[in-house]
Amino acid sequence: MNAQAMPDMDEQARAILRGNDRGGYTVPTAGLYPYQWNWDSAFAAWGFATFDVERGWDEIETLFSGQWGNGMVPHILFHRPDPGYFPGPEVWGGIGPVASSGISQPPVAASFARRIYDLDPEAGLPVVARLFPKMLAWHRWFMEWRLDQGAVCITHPWEAGRDNTPDWDGAMAGIDPIDVGDYTRRDTSHVDPEMRPTKYDYDRYVWLVRLGRRLNWDEAALLEQNPFRVADPTMTFTLLRAQRDLAALGRILKEDVSEIEAAIAVLEAGAETLWNAELASYDARDVRSGQWANCVSNASFLCWYAGIQNPAMEAQYDRITSVCTYPVPSHDPSSDRFDPKRYWRGPTWGIMNALIGIGLQDCGLVERAENLRTSTADLIREYGFAEYFDPISGDAAGGGTFTWTAAVWLGWASPSRPKGAF
Ligand code: GLC
Repeated sequence: MNAQAMPDMDEQARAILRGNDRGGYTVPTAGLYPYQWNWDSAFAAWGFATFDVERGWDEIETLFSGQWGNGMVPHILFHRPDPGYFPGPEVWGGIGPVASSGISQPPVAASFARRIYDLDPEAGLPVVARLFPKMLAWHRWFMEWRLDQGAVCITHPWEAGRDNTPDWDGAMAGIDPIDVGDYTRRDTSHVDPEMRPTKYDYDRYVWLVRLGRRLNWDEAALLEQNPFRVADPTMTFTLLRAQRDLAALGRILKEDVSEIEAAIAVLEAGAETLWNAELASYDARDVRSGQWANCVSNASFLCWYAGIQNPAMEAQYDRITSVCTYPVPSHDPSSDRFDPKRYWRGPTWGIMNALIGIGLQDCGLVERAENLRTSTADLIREYGFAEYFDPISGDAAGGGTFTWTAAVWLGWASPSRPKGAF
């Protein structure tokens, strides 16, 4: 690739963000995902901030406009109706100030807020002052309602952002989606059904949404009645990292951060309860059955992003990346559940690569970090700004012109990315 091609890729990425901008918030991609998604938004903010810091902050402020009274920040905000998506606002029955879903998503917003602040501290200070109590309340909600032995649990597969990963297979088998009723999927009318979750999974997703709604999203009732409760590496590692970044922002604001520091200690201990010694990897743990998922996933490799060093994870990483042209696959290619094109059961995701790469870099594993950045940049250059990719062939999969892939390009993979932290 010659140097002259670079500005063109940057320009394409910026055009994708602008094209997906709906005014104050960005859709992940037109058609398939027509609303504001929680962690997609944090990535979008990061991407925008590389050329328009103010627009980056707007994205995060709009996300927090949907925060519930109990501190939860929903995984989808339905700012404007769109019949092309299921399950929509009427199915979820969210109870916050903006029509929304009833579950959350990996809390990466504080980490990207810190990064955006670093890009322009003067412009960022008043925004960070406004956002700090909101982020604190969100993180507190996780600490209050979602811990199991200090690890963070999900109550729906969509909450982890890794919808149909084999990590949930055991817990999903424990659900009998009786009375799920009729519904029409919309996702499979936008992209190839072979790349999407199956009907078996979808019945259970919808059943869990109906349960939450019936319980009016009361966390105490869900804790008692929801059969799906899985301690998850995605949530645990991203929250641990986000607490560290929030504490840093709090210190800048001269806030008392002792509560956040205490939470960090709890989460550090909790992360170790995700260590599956037999598998020699961080793993998901089904809280209801006590069973391990037995999955080395791309979320297992978020340990470094959370500031956790573990030589056994380096060995896992080297083993898995050595068999993929374009790592990091969402599931171990040596597993019989690996499926290179089906969503979170094998494909490579740019956002996960960025988080893993940032973690590797921060932990001083610099060569691995640089190799991952380079292979991800090659992947996007050769196969486009797709939602996700086949880790062996590189083929683009899912939706096209994807916001977070464009953002990852601008913030992390592009040779012209802003230098400094991250
Ligand atoms: C899918 C992904 C999830 C993402 C959403 C919007 O549901 O699994 O992580 O937030 O799409 O891009």
